[in-house]
Amino acid sequence: MTRRAGVLGWPVKHSLSPLIHRIWAAREGRAISYEAIPVEPGDTAFRAAIERLASAGYKGVNVTLPHKERALAIADEASGEARAAGAANMLTFGKRQVLADNSDIAGFAAAVEETGRKPACALILGAGGAARGVAVALKRRLGVQRPIIANRTRARAQEVARIVDAETIDWSEKESVLAGVDLLVNTTSLGMTGQPPLAINLSALAPASIVADIVYAPLETPLLAAARARGLGAIDGLSMLMHQAAFGYRAWLGSAAVVDADLRARLVAALNARDGS
Ligand code: ATR
Repeated sequence: MTRRAGVLGWPVKHSLSPLIHRIWAAREGRAISYEAIPVEPGDTAFRAAIERLASAGYKGVNVTLPHKERALAIADEASGEARAAGAANMLTFGKRQVLADNSDIAGFAAAVEETGRKPACALILGAGGAARGVAVALKRRLGVQRPIIANRTRARAQEVARIVDAETIDWSEKESVLAGVDLLVNTTSLGMTGQPPLAINLSALAPASIVADIVYAPLETPLLAAARARGLGAIDGLSMLMHQAAFGYRAWLGSAAVVDADLRARLVAALNARDGS
């Protein structure tokens, strides 16, 4: 029987997740179905979609914006990481219950581990939902001893800092701590297509440090371009996207979900084709 899963969001039309899952399924010769399913904001529409998909025999779904907090709220059970982050991007449909998990956390950790480096001090820029997931990954998965959070609105940084026992600094102080930082993560919207770039001078970062940007539109943000120009490690949003997808694929659809250069090349081609359309 064809195993079914999908990704729920609003908007979700441009999600790369269907392509990622179909590539893995084709490699294994499996018949699967994985669709992008638009679900408008609001509890009623979200609950109705979950009930419909669970009773239609779906194994589970990925959940993206704006439903990640809602996904955690409606689940019967949730992983410790999803609870710590306050959001879920995976719902697995059991016989009688819905289980929530957050593979953005493990996906970010895997993207960092892939660089072969072990950061001890990390600076997170931003304090939204993505920053929470990154903070949990740093603390619980990567063993970062000293996480620091800087956000334009300091009170929001303090809320995220409380979850993982991190320090906060003022937004204006972010460059002053870079000398001791070996992982810099941008979770703000700065640098995304249509947004101003993140203005930060990276010259104080040590040569072995890594810079990560969680967006993939554009794939090479001005921040990552500056990091590469300095010879620093760079992690883009596609890396994290591919790694987080592997958890859902293995849970619902198949067994071998390898993140490799071929997968990346096919996703980059899809992004480029879309830009040209
Ligand atoms: P998420 O999608 O991660 O949940 P969000 O809540 O929309 O994100 O937050 C976007 C982040 O980008 C926030 O940290 C925001 O800072 P504030 O908390 O002060 O709003 C940050 N951000 C957006 N525009 C910014 C700007 N022009 N300068 C600095 N930070 C900015």
